[in-house]
Amino acid sequence: MYDTRKTVLLKDGTQAVLRGLRPGDGEAMLRFMKKTRGESEFLMLYPEEITQTVEQEENWIRRKLEDPNAWMIICEVNGEMVGVCEIFRNRGIKVRHRGILAVAVVKDFWHKGIGTVFFEEMEAVARQNGITQMELEVVEGNERAMALYEKQGFAVTGTIPGAIRYKDGRERCYYYMVKKL
Ligand SMILES: CC(C)(COP(=O)(O)OP(=O)(O)OC[C@H]1O[C@@H](n2cnc3c(N)ncnc32)[C@H](O)[C@@H]1OP(=O)(O)O)[C@@H](O)C(=O)NCCC(=O)NCCS
Repeated sequence: MYDTRKTVLLKDGTQAVLRGLRPGDGEAMLRFMKKTRGESEFLMLYPEEITQTVEQEENWIRRKLEDPNAWMIICEVNGEMVGVCEIFRNRGIKVRHRGILAVAVVKDFWHKGIGTVFFEEMEAVARQNGITQMELEVVEGNERAMALYEKQGFAVTGTIPGAIRYKDGRERCYYYMVKKL
């Protein structure tokens, strides 16, 4: 669980808050997920696939908060959820040095530095919790995300061909990226 609360200044001078996930975030989280999935074709689900109720989402949040292998950071501007970043540590003894990352930011807030502060913060979380290797998947063509990850020290280690197939039949590969800490 991420239980820090920080105020950060974005590139355009906007004040944002980084905080952990908490009970009661369900409705805002569902709104955020539908919005970001509608704004980017690089996230795994279509917005109409976000079908859970607020109650189900609250149950999911409770489980997340009890999970010793999950850390989630929320970025808020004026009380609105505008970014979410998560790291999930693998469970088994042989693989628990590896943390898997995921990130999304609302389009109006892209390129203001939120992705960068998320990754800096998550790297600190990883180090504090014995994670020595951070990993993620990114869809071919997601130049903005690739630029962020490369800037943060991740390198492509492989691909999963045809990992994504859109409704119109287009296929995209996943790049697998790794950063050793
Ligand atoms: C990818 C994403 C998380 C980046 O977040 P962000 O808050 O915009 O990231 P930052 O503002 O910190 O910018 C990170 C870097 O992206 C790069 N970047 C910014 N705008 C860019 C653009 N238009 N084209 C290419 N690269 C760009 C820059 O290298 C930038 O670093 P710099 O400003 O220091 O040069 C965000 O765009 C997003 O949520 N996209 C949709 C969902 C998604 O793709 N998630 C990732 C799935 S793997």
